[in-house]
Amino acid sequence: QAEAALALMRRAPVMPVLTVADVADALEQAAALIAGGLPVMEVTLSGRVALKTMVVLVKAFPEAIIGAGAIIETEQIDAAIDAGAAFLTSPGMTPRLIEAAVRSPLPFLPGASSASEAMALRERGFRALKFFPAEAAGGANYVASLAGPLPDLIFCPTGGVDMDKAKNYLALDNVACVGGSWMLAPAPGETRDFACVEKLAREAFGLARRH
Ligand code: 3PG
Repeated sequence: QAEAALALMRRAPVMPVLTVADVADALEQAAALIAGGLPVMEVTLSGRVALKTMVVLVKAFPEAIIGAGAIIETEQIDAAIDAGAAFLTSPGMTPRLIEAAVRSPLPFLPGASSASEAMALRERGFRALKFFPAEAAGGANYVASLAGPLPDLIFCPTGGVDMDKAKNYLALDNVACVGGSWMLAPAPGETRDFACVEKLAREAFGLARRH
């Protein structure tokens, strides 16, 4: 479980977070990300459309590794597995969710935003964690501060990350990748430009990291 989750985080320096509005848009987002070199992506599970879209994406892009994000209830785990998710992520963890994640057949990247939360997950065997919400919870300084007391934990900071902030996180010994949606966001007042998404994805793919 821990090894599989770590291997996922090491596939690409950035794990894009897709929010699904409609299937056609999600297909174009995923195509642009893959073309830009980011095949490991997380689809935020919010509502039925997200699950249906995941089924379509998984079929359309067998070369991609598409996970289900924003898991907050145990019931969502089976739904995500049925939809073809390759991995699962959560913004945080509850005792029930930890038990279900331990039993899950898929790699699970659980969310933590404090030393205590990270330690509780470590006790249950997790080594690859999301640091969420990364910027609001303390940013790169906070993640760096966890490396001393918790040297065997590796983080994927997510939440409020952009290209510049990604560089700071990826310079840390205990960060393998970052998550974010900055490469997918249209400029204010504009519709999404998929050529721009691909360009930003390619820049993100080129980010150096220590892991
Ligand atoms: C989210 O909160 O939806 C994801 O973690 C992505 O965060 P971001 O949109 O701030 O990159």
